[in-house]
Amino acid sequence: MAIIFFLSLFSLLFFTLSSSHIIPRFPYSVISPEQQLNSGSVQNGLYRTKFFTQILDHFNYNPQSYQKFQQRYLINDTYWGGAKKKAPIFVYTGNEGNIEWFTQNTGFMFEQAPYFNALLVFIEHRFYGKSIPFGGKKKVAYANSSTLGYLSSAQALADYATLIIDLKKNLSATESPVVVFGGSYGGMLAAWFRMKYPHVAIGALASSAPILQFDDLVSPYAFDNIITQDFRSESENCYKVIKGSWNLIEETAKKHGGLELLRKSFKICNNYIGVDALEGWLGQAWIYTAMTDYPTPTNFLSPLPAYPVRKMCEAIDSSVTGKNTLEKLYDAASIYYNYSGTSKCFDLNDHSDPHDLGGWQWQACSEMIMPEGASSKESIFPESKWSVKDRNAYCKFAYNVVPRPNWITSEFGGHNIEIVLKRSVGNIIFFNGLRDPWSGGGVLKNISKTIIAIVAKEGAHHVDLRYSTKEDPKWLKDVRKQEVKIIESWISQYHQDLATK
Ligand SMILES: *[C@@H]1O[C@H](CO)[C@@H](O)[C@H](O)[C@H]1NC(C)=O
Ligand SMILES: *[C@@H]1O[C@H](CO)[C@@H](O)[C@H](O)[C@H]1NC(C)=O
Ligand SMILES: *[C@@H]1O[C@H](CO)[C@@H](O)[C@H](O)[C@H]1NC(C)=O
Ligand SMILES: *[C@@H]1O[C@H](CO)[C@@H](O)[C@H](O)[C@H]1NC(C)=O
Ligand SMILES: *[C@@H]1O[C@H](CO)[C@@H](O)[C@H](O)[C@H]1NC(C)=O
Repeated sequence: MAIIFFLSLFSLLFFTLSSSHIIPRFPYSVISPEQQLNSGSVQNGLYRTKFFTQILDHFNYNPQSYQKFQQRYLINDTYWGGAKKKAPIFVYTGNEGNIEWFTQNTGFMFEQAPYFNALLVFIEHRFYGKSIPFGGKKKVAYANSSTLGYLSSAQALADYATLIIDLKKNLSATESPVVVFGGSYGGMLAAWFRMKYPHVAIGALASSAPILQFDDLVSPYAFDNIITQDFRSESENCYKVIKGSWNLIEETAKKHGGLELLRKSFKICNNYIGVDALEGWLGQAWIYTAMTDYPTPTNFLSPLPAYPVRKMCEAIDSSVTGKNTLEKLYDAASIYYNYSGTSKCFDLNDHSDPHDLGGWQWQACSEMIMPEGASSKESIFPESKWSVKDRNAYCKFAYNVVPRPNWITSEFGGHNIEIVLKRSVGNIIFFNGLRDPWSGGGVLKNISKTIIAIVAKEGAHHVDLRYSTKEDPKWLKDVRKQEVKIIESWISQYHQDLATK
């Protein structure tokens, strides 16, 4: 039996294949309900919420295209130096979820705003959060492909351009330079925005942006290889125990009373559990923890201690208590699912989506075909292959849509990126942390004097954009300092160009 982990930037969607029968099982919950963040209400006083009347379709002139929807954006002008000074505007290009959640996790922009006298703007991606076309009615917008068809990266970038241009006009700040920021898919959008709209943004900080995770640009094994390496570098035993767990679970399940034993061992609430669901639940814990293996305690996808992969391996390697393997796996998974200690039991059928990431399923069925999740013999996950056929079958089932795996590279490029970008665009920072499985699809080499790759060996998923803490290691402080210096150089170059034009 193969477990297939289906895409995921945050919204890890996975389904299982048994013979030719496809059982879709998502959206898989990111956070158990007990641990939900109070997204929305916590950060009162960080920004004002505004809505902009956006056009449904930027690329078509038929009557349907002219329909409007309300796009949410968040704004903070406390530190802005103003239009007269041509003070900069920092824009976060929202990704696949509620913009408030991303804003709360992008402390870097708030912390740098006073230094740059920057205006802060966080724009929500269409079809997510409160930026829902078709009258704000999610049921209608998500009904089927005839409405979901308006959910695409190209439309999102055009939304951002339209909104930024209009906002600058309203503020009489047409000469204020705009720098775009984003992490993960938002980082991809930031980089692509700089490439497509160089007249709107002078530069982009694209953090953990896997813009090369498309087509044949990277190995589909890269993602799982990095997770494997994350655990294996903690301890060989930890790697072996997790690698062996899939077999252990399947063998246990076959025994009389085995499923009940598994259910009890992992404190599962559901009366009946499937092996696939249990394996998916465990896999999700290892994947998300690898992605968010931050050097300080965090609460992004789930509350976690500092260096959570290490903590998981310590639980697995622990010899003091004489626990059996299932108990150790439970202890390790609990670090992801129950670090707060508030979960009574784990619900494998929990399909809650607190950050509103569900639209990613559609994106993953249309243009975001990111080959990943294939597992080699050495992988910590069961051996499996990436299959575009499986994706196609799922997408036909779910939306009756045929994925276009070559569209992203046709639209934004990717092949020969070093040669292409160095002659066509400048002022992009690509940050990647090598512990992040998405770094496999990141830009890891300097391309030109102004297209800079900052690579942190110990870094995880867009760690640079997070709020700083007193415990931050030196390498992280250095990364942020370097980013500030580079952004500063873009802005002063821009002002110089303006003065001498
Ligand atoms: C902007 O953010 C700062 C925190 O960095 C906060 O103190 C201030 O009140 C915010 N301003 C607005 C207008 O929300
Ligand atoms: C999509 O849903 C709408 C409203 O329910 C319906 O009128 C339309 O025929 C559907 N389109 C497709 C392609 O299924
Ligand atoms: C600019 O001002 C107009 C008129 O008040 C308003 O409708 C529009 O939403 C504003 N644009 C933005 C981006 O807020
Ligand atoms: C979560 O942690 C608390 C505190 O350690 C414990 O009492 C509870 O049983 C745990 N929940 C589950 C589902 O393991
Ligand atoms: C890219 O260049 C910068 C200096 O501009 C350097 O700090 C950085 O380490 C280089 N990145 C890589 C991946 O070599």
